[in-house]
Amino acid sequence: MSEVAVIGAGYVGLTTAACLARLGHDVRCADVDAERVARLAKGEIPILEEGMPSLVAEGLATRRLRFVVGAPAAAHDAEFVFLCVGTPADATGAADLSAVEAVAHEIAPLLVPGAVVVTKSTVPVGTTRRVARWLAEAGAVTDVEVASNPEFLREGSAVRDFLQPNRIVIGCDDPTVAVRISELYRTIPAPMVVTDAASAEMIKQASNAFLATKISFINAVANVCEAVNADVRDVALGMGYDDRIGSDFLSPGPGFGGACLPKDTAALLQTAQEFGYDFSLLRGVLDVNDRQRDHIVDLVRTMAGGGLAGCRVGVLGLTFKANTDDLRDSPALAIAAALVDAGADVLAYDPVAGEAAAARVPGLRVVTDPYEAVADAEVVALLTEWNEFRWLDYARVAATTAVPRIVDARNLLDPAAMRRLGFTYRGVGR
Ligand SMILES: NC(=O)c1ccc[n+]([C@@H]2O[C@H](COP(=O)([O-])OP(=O)(O)OC[C@H]3O[C@@H](n4cnc5c(N)ncnc54)[C@H](O)[C@@H]3O)[C@@H](O)[C@H]2O)c1
Repeated sequence: MSEVAVIGAGYVGLTTAACLARLGHDVRCADVDAERVARLAKGEIPILEEGMPSLVAEGLATRRLRFVVGAPAAAHDAEFVFLCVGTPADATGAADLSAVEAVAHEIAPLLVPGAVVVTKSTVPVGTTRRVARWLAEAGAVTDVEVASNPEFLREGSAVRDFLQPNRIVIGCDDPTVAVRISELYRTIPAPMVVTDAASAEMIKQASNAFLATKISFINAVANVCEAVNADVRDVALGMGYDDRIGSDFLSPGPGFGGACLPKDTAALLQTAQEFGYDFSLLRGVLDVNDRQRDHIVDLVRTMAGGGLAGCRVGVLGLTFKANTDDLRDSPALAIAAALVDAGADVLAYDPVAGEAAAARVPGLRVVTDPYEAVADAEVVALLTEWNEFRWLDYARVAATTAVPRIVDARNLLDPAAMRRLGFTYRGVGR
């Protein structure tokens, strides 16, 4: 069993640390946020993630999992150091690597000979080699190795995705180091792709850009469906049966969001540009995505009779997708903010992130009951596909609203059933 340090206790770092402890390794997980570390040390989980509370409790009880403040406290003596800090987009769309660089400088003097520093954060091609340079500049011993081991987990099913992945990708210019990393995962029966660092980094960015492309593709098809009176749900069903296409990521909606697809697509576009290739396809993907948010706002405006000023809108859902508390680059939150900007009186409900959303959008009022959000609404906008919105009492919703009108940006509801209840109903692409 190995001594592992995980730097960053966010969605990826915490999952990596807790799961590697489950696999039997001794893990020290570090974060700069001392309050987060103190909570984690008590078994309090700062993110919404199925299975995480029991996994962390297990790790703490077996003492295989410990939480410490600051990367140096985790990295000294470790055989493997996983970098799991954030790499958000900067103003140009490129990945901001300042947190990765900062950690490299912090840990360099503490690394023991033979230690392997592994970038798990999503980073542009070439970053793993830059990490090696940063480590050397900051005084690391010469026989420290670097590798890339990108993470493919999805928020909401992070633990399952980590422990039962579709594949494990290890990128390293030295095959013996790749073998050492692969041993950490030896009890996981997943295909393993061992390649060079640049290819591993590209696998992650290209995978996310491809998923983003699928979503923008079906959203663009949905918009054409609206024009020609076709139903995109049936279109997606018919397309998805083709094995070459597959049905995943073919659900039209308000566009992709979260901390990964938008920034990774923009970062790949930026990398291509840097190397002289105009990846115009990805510009189109991002453009369709931006316009899709506007399209949902337009649907609400149209349903409100052409103007949003003073219109009471009841919003259901604010997180970027269901089963997460993550509001980063959430299309639902952006749409709610655009409605507020347009002068609408927005009252919103989200099962987990209402308060955090209100803190981010001035003028957005939130409530803790979905029926309160839709009371007296002239339009209801369902923006995140939380399962509980499927099962609301829509007869009660219809009776509570000022006018029973609903924009279902996730195609979650049955249009015929909603119309029977008296709603004017608009989905996406149908
Ligand atoms: N969230 C996802 O679904 C997901 C999936 C796959 C890959 N990724 C990638 O993984 C990386 C991390 O994403 P995330 O969502 O976990 O981010 P996050 O913001 O949830 O977590 C990052 C953590 O790193 C900590 N941190 C920052 N600087 C530090 C330092 N110097 N020392 C110690 N801790 C430090 C922060 O306090 C924070 O808790 C990103 O590159 C992201 O693109 C994310």
